[in-house]
Amino acid sequence: MLRRLHKDQPDSFAFTPANQAWAEAQITKYPEGRQASAIIPLLWRAQEQEGWLTRPAIESVCNMLDMAFIRGLEVASFYFMFQLQPVGSVAHIQVCGTTSCMICGAEDLVSVCKEKIAKKAHQLSADGKFSWEEVECLGSCANAPMAQIGKDYFEDLTAARMGELIDELAAGKVPTPGPQNGRYAAEPLGGLTTLKDFDSGQKKYNASVQLAVDIGDTVKRIDGTEVPLLAPWQGKSANSNAKSNTKAAKPAQPKAAQKAKPAEKMTPAAKPKVEAAVAPAEGPGTKPATLDAARDGGADNLKMIKGVGPKLESLLHRLGFFHFDQVAAWTADEIAWVDQNLEGFKGRVSRDNWVAQAGPLSRGEETEFSQRAKKDGMYKK
Ligand code: FES
Repeated sequence: MLRRLHKDQPDSFAFTPANQAWAEAQITKYPEGRQASAIIPLLWRAQEQEGWLTRPAIESVCNMLDMAFIRGLEVASFYFMFQLQPVGSVAHIQVCGTTSCMICGAEDLVSVCKEKIAKKAHQLSADGKFSWEEVECLGSCANAPMAQIGKDYFEDLTAARMGELIDELAAGKVPTPGPQNGRYAAEPLGGLTTLKDFDSGQKKYNASVQLAVDIGDTVKRIDGTEVPLLAPWQGKSANSNAKSNTKAAKPAQPKAAQKAKPAEKMTPAAKPKVEAAVAPAEGPGTKPATLDAARDGGADNLKMIKGVGPKLESLLHRLGFFHFDQVAAWTADEIAWVDQNLEGFKGRVSRDNWVAQAGPLSRGEETEFSQRAKKDGMYKK
């Protein structure tokens, strides 16, 4: 199947504040220079938030990870779990079509989807509420045939029950997931034949169904109102940070920043010390002239230079570079120094030819990239 970006794309994408905090916390799992490893969880969260992966979402995630957009698109278009086209606003139904399910009636389930939703997979229903597709084995073969709807599995399905589920979801109900034929889990339909004294703890549902029932919404988008246990590896305080971020819409702080004193407790004299946390490395080249702060009128949007994302822009500020004309004036010797001192991003000045890009930008002209970035609403200041 050909997987490419959908022809109709939204203008922009932004994580909800809580999802942004979650995403930033994920990035701290990886060592400096290896942030790209967070690409799949971040793309997944973007999809969970929006229902599908838009081009601005992929670009936004690449931007957070300082990756070239094409690298993010490669990941998004490779894995079928990423939906590159709009899905139903209520639910996207994934019917398992592999051996066990096919033998047990998956084709009947697909027929219901064709009849009630749309003739073809990945098409939206007339009211835009539903879409469907056939997927490979979802690992619930003992409960075939089955389908995944939103976050949950609906097992031991019949065509009639599939039709009812779609009707219930359309009516705003949240059907109970799990086996739909009265089974507790994957035990024989006629009841246990061994281990008869097995005690389920007398919970009404098996563990995964119970969790789904407790959460109470199979098809809800992940908007950040979920339990904000965002970064357990960062320790208790990080978790509480994450909780307050959820409410106060502040991004999670990277590990290094957490070690610094909170900004409000800093004296004016101490603050620059923390911000200037980049310790220039010894190395080749000559250090260019730097500024202590942006000139009047504020810093230029350095992200208009292709290859500079928010993290690199912040690093450049900490090194003392705020304006296009500073970058445009770097000599070969100075480029060597900056390249060497971009911790985690060494060599980016040469690789992306920042100096050539900064020249026209410093004269108020546009580059091909800055035009596209502005048109797509990326990298707003
Ligand atoms: S064959 Fe359908 S879940 Fe495995």
